[in-house]
Amino acid sequence: MDINTDITTIGIVGCGLMGAGIAQVAVEAGFKVVAKEIDQASLDRGLARIHVQWDKAVGKGKRSLDEVALFNARLQGTLSWSSLSDCELIIEAVPEILSLKLATFKELDRCLAPSTVICSNTSSISITELIAGLGPDRHPFTAGLHFFNPVSAMPLVEIIRTVLSSADTIAALQAFVKKIGKTPVLAPDSPGFIVNRLLVPFLLDAIRAREQQLASTADIDAGMKLGCGHPMGPLHLADFIGLDTIANVADVMFEAFGEPRFKAPSLVKQLVAAGRLGRKSGLGFYRWEGETRMEPIAL
Ligand SMILES: NC(=O)c1ccc[n+]([C@@H]2O[C@H](COP(=O)([O-])OP(=O)(O)OC[C@H]3O[C@@H](n4cnc5c(N)ncnc54)[C@H](O)[C@@H]3O)[C@@H](O)[C@H]2O)c1
Repeated sequence: MDINTDITTIGIVGCGLMGAGIAQVAVEAGFKVVAKEIDQASLDRGLARIHVQWDKAVGKGKRSLDEVALFNARLQGTLSWSSLSDCELIIEAVPEILSLKLATFKELDRCLAPSTVICSNTSSISITELIAGLGPDRHPFTAGLHFFNPVSAMPLVEIIRTVLSSADTIAALQAFVKKIGKTPVLAPDSPGFIVNRLLVPFLLDAIRAREQQLASTADIDAGMKLGCGHPMGPLHLADFIGLDTIANVADVMFEAFGEPRFKAPSLVKQLVAAGRLGRKSGLGFYRWEGETRMEPIAL
């Protein structure tokens, strides 16, 4: 079966931090987007995230009201799997939990045409493991499509090619990534791919340094920001990514590589257990008011 290379409609499963960002950039690039969520409250929250960005752009004179009206006409929210049936490309962006992603892939297999391209935005899980339960006919149409946070600002997308992804699927994804104004790099199907293989141990080391009282949250972040020229310190970045995501990614990578540098420090597990997930919950290493980082929290 041939891939449908004429991609016009994208389905996003999970309209959280990443899904909303991916939906936003795809709509802005001219694609129709169907964003699927798990319940009405989560869908409203996801769509509101996108609308806030467009309202800000209008307020700054970067977008016109007419443009935003066109964007809105191309964006549809849904709670039903069947609404994804006309999409040529699906990007799964549910939380980094293997069982949840496997269940999502099963549902997608059930409701999509056989040649729909199915991708995961997973940060660390092997794509081959995610597609193992699907029929072999689907395998050529699967790959990873790993965006970076915040999606609207970060130019990179890792395209994860498994041994089963077809050359046509990879070519269609490269064209899609370029069409949304991003730069694709091909990455192997190894946990964490390229960027997280290098970034995650660094973030975990910073959390371990905080746990061991090496320095305050503010000083660790100032050290890496002012001393090394990083745009934000590692604890600030961990809050920005989501501490639950960091802990889940660390678990996957530790399981895969068995090296202590990938092990989640108990501090991050404790913060997650306490509901301190970083920016998305309003508390992490810092207190947050919406998107604004406030003072560090005493630990
Ligand atoms: N946070 C980051 O910086 C970052 C960066 C790159 C990749 N990722 C990856 O992207 C994925 C999503 O991460 P996130 O930070 O956006 O998480 P998030 O928790 O902000 O969003 C996940 C969304 O998925 C929804 N969801 C759960 N089950 C669903 C289902 N069955 N159908 C539809 N929606 C469902 C949730 O309601 C939630 O809104 C993860 O795999 C993560 O590893 C995250």
